[in-house]
Amino acid sequence: MEKVVLAYSGGLDTSVMVRWLKEKYGFEVVTVIVDVGQQEDLKAIEEKAKLVGAIKHYTIDAKKEFIENFVFPAIKANALYEGKYPLSSALSRPLIAKKLVEIARKEEASAVAHGCTGRGNDQVRFEVTIEALAPDLKIIAPVREWKLTREEEVEYAKKYGIHITPKKHPYSIDQNLWGRSIECGPLDNPNQEPPKDVFEWTANPEEAPDKPEYVTVRFEEGIPTAINGENMDGVELISSLNKIAGKHGVGRIDHVEDRVVGLKSREVYECPAAICLIEAHKDLEKLVLTRHELMFKEWVDLYWGWLVYSGLWVEPLREDLEAFIEKTQERVSGEVRLKLYRGNVMVVGRSSPFSLHLEPEYDQSIASGFIRLWGLQTKSFHLKSKRER
Ligand code: ARG
Repeated sequence: MEKVVLAYSGGLDTSVMVRWLKEKYGFEVVTVIVDVGQQEDLKAIEEKAKLVGAIKHYTIDAKKEFIENFVFPAIKANALYEGKYPLSSALSRPLIAKKLVEIARKEEASAVAHGCTGRGNDQVRFEVTIEALAPDLKIIAPVREWKLTREEEVEYAKKYGIHITPKKHPYSIDQNLWGRSIECGPLDNPNQEPPKDVFEWTANPEEAPDKPEYVTVRFEEGIPTAINGENMDGVELISSLNKIAGKHGVGRIDHVEDRVVGLKSREVYECPAAICLIEAHKDLEKLVLTRHELMFKEWVDLYWGWLVYSGLWVEPLREDLEAFIEKTQERVSGEVRLKLYRGNVMVVGRSSPFSLHLEPEYDQSIASGFIRLWGLQTKSFHLKSKRER
């Protein structure tokens, strides 16, 4: 019997899928869940996978790898897609795809499967990565194929004795250490304010503490290494910053996003640590990089974020851009002081041994000569257009 490796979440779709892959394709199904900090009961998910018919299940702790190899580069690139979205879900996909391929090799499987729909970005991210890493593996996306409504899925589950837990809310949620994405239900109307029950990681700013809290973040070569003077590894630092900033209602995002597949989609996120760290990192760069470096890097950062959003993590250009970014990060070390208050994060202080904010010798008398030359072409233009009038 041939084997398929399925990215399993424990939800209705992927649970039905285990049986469906067996019935439709005659596969033996191996399930995999990659722990990127989604804070779910992974033991219960493993038990469920076995219960619904997986012959084997893998739980892979990839939190450290996720932070160090995916989130840190995103911080260095100040990655905010369309100025808003820190790419939390997007960054996890190539990592999960890589793990699926590893397990597929180990299990000598001939196919991999995922639970993405045909409407989103995640299918693109998974499949571009899998095809690049393992072109011989067949990719199956049952949700795109089976055309079942939710009711039909529930019927299917009943028929095969697949236990389902009733849905507590109408949202589609994806979470990891870098953030929480919430879609669907009432959020599909871009003109309706998100209902209160959408948010879990962040306090309502109206109900957040009415005293500000200061947090100092230390960066070493672009990587956050300490909070309030305490050294932490990436996983610990980001988890604790999520809690601190979340308590102050920082990190709520609501915007209309352009998906790779052309749709416009209303998206809500909670990314407290991401918003703080990117804000702090960007600010520190302004202290240590020259204006030429900053202006050029903005383009590089924009392109980096766009590639990653668009499912092109494995595109060589990403690494080419990172070669430049890495070079700039040599001087991005220092401390940034953040003030968190009722949904806001403000940088209120920054320092670095590489600071270019010096008091150099500055001779005011030469400014006037500089200005004459600086405005020369502009002045010529105005002179000429006056003459021709
Ligand atoms: N729109 C976001 C992205 O493309 C989030 C996707 C999250 N997936 C989900 N099932 N809610 O990265």
